[in-house]
Amino acid sequence: MTQNPPRAFPADFLWGSATASYQIEGAAREDGRTPSIWDTFAHTPGKVFAGDTGDVACDHYHRWREDIDLMSELGLGAYRFSVSWSRVQPTGRGPAVQRGLDFYRQLVDGLLEKGITPVVTLYHWDLPQDLEDTGGWPERETAERFAEYARIVGEALGDRVKLWATLNEPFCSSFLGYGSGVHAPGRHEPEAVLKSAHHLNLAHGLGVQALRSVLPRDAQIGVSLNPGVIRPRTDAPADLDAARRIDALHTRIFSDPMLHGGYPADLREDTARVSDWSFVRPGDEATIHQEIDFLGLNYYTPTIVSAPSGEERVAGNDGHGVSEYSQWVGSEDVEFHPAPGERTDMGWAVDPTGLTDLLLRFHREAPGVALYITENGAAFEDKPDASGAVHDPERIAYLHGHLTAVHKAIEQGADVRGYYVWSLLDNFEWAYGYSKRFGVVHVDFETLERTPKSSARWYASVAAANELPA
Ligand code: NOJ
Repeated sequence: MTQNPPRAFPADFLWGSATASYQIEGAAREDGRTPSIWDTFAHTPGKVFAGDTGDVACDHYHRWREDIDLMSELGLGAYRFSVSWSRVQPTGRGPAVQRGLDFYRQLVDGLLEKGITPVVTLYHWDLPQDLEDTGGWPERETAERFAEYARIVGEALGDRVKLWATLNEPFCSSFLGYGSGVHAPGRHEPEAVLKSAHHLNLAHGLGVQALRSVLPRDAQIGVSLNPGVIRPRTDAPADLDAARRIDALHTRIFSDPMLHGGYPADLREDTARVSDWSFVRPGDEATIHQEIDFLGLNYYTPTIVSAPSGEERVAGNDGHGVSEYSQWVGSEDVEFHPAPGERTDMGWAVDPTGLTDLLLRFHREAPGVALYITENGAAFEDKPDASGAVHDPERIAYLHGHLTAVHKAIEQGADVRGYYVWSLLDNFEWAYGYSKRFGVVHVDFETLERTPKSSARWYASVAAANELPA
């Protein structure tokens, strides 16, 4: 019998889990926190499944010690969390609230005590409502306010946090927030999509500058993107062109200015009907193009596109509602198709090859920039059995397949430094509320009891061995 070679990961590979403030913290009105756009959106009838809100969520704000203990028991070496902007700077402007900063300082100290590396994401979609009231991301001022906020958090935590990400998935903030409107603030304005994307890019650039000015030299600064893995349905030129358009709109609109210093010409041409891009001022692209130490990649599923064929149009099962936003920015002549393969509870096709492709793409595009998978995971309908245990073999299979894909990319030379499973806990899955469970730890939303699923044990054993089982 031939044995598969052991699939060891590099020494120092970080095995972590990820969460985001609005999805887990709760305590929405405590200690000076004011509403973010997600509080407003979730409290607007009809926006979130079953009227769910993040008011309580996993109550992590009060149970963070228990959550750190869980990570520690599982032997997870890193934890990626985000800071709630309106907990730290309630109006998005002006002085910081000490109690807000203290919460994150305690959390970081608790992690460090257990030997867990903290990774801070400054912005995971919860813009202070006050900043939306003055225009939100389509306004340039929001990027300037972000830089101020980045400096505040950098000054408060810079002595103990070494890994910093400016933004999480700016694609969702702009396209889903201002285009399809399925995310907060729920606006449907074609040009606002492009303006918000630009101001998020600018926020990233200004944020990197602000962090560099206050952090110690050994701090590692980056960003988490969710580039589309866009596949043409066939090799026909028209299908390849459809894939090019969506790649520009989904991925290169962020990665080109951040990594290469400018917006792609084809993107500007494709969207000329919607905007003349006059919101890009001289010098902006240079500001966005900051040196970064790492690129965080979030991956769930690929997207299949073609030129119009008159066949089925798919809404909502392409990973991030791509097919729903494209109409706002002039790509209505692209058709979306279901990706082959088994599906998760989100309806997203399981295809680990996309993760290898994604890592190799950015290995080539950003030589010298370390890569992290800052999110990867799957939702399934997990329920405790009669004994209270939660068995989730589908999630184990998903993780196994995707970690194998990561290993393949490493074998082909990609400098991948770590993997963060999404998510540590079942949590508030945005417009889906609590109906979709991504956690490796089950949360009973009545009692808030946490129960590690079998996937948590499996993931812990991989992390402990630093090697994938055959
Ligand atoms: C992307 C986001 O960053 C995270 O907040 C979300 O819960 C997961 N993907 C799953 O949709």
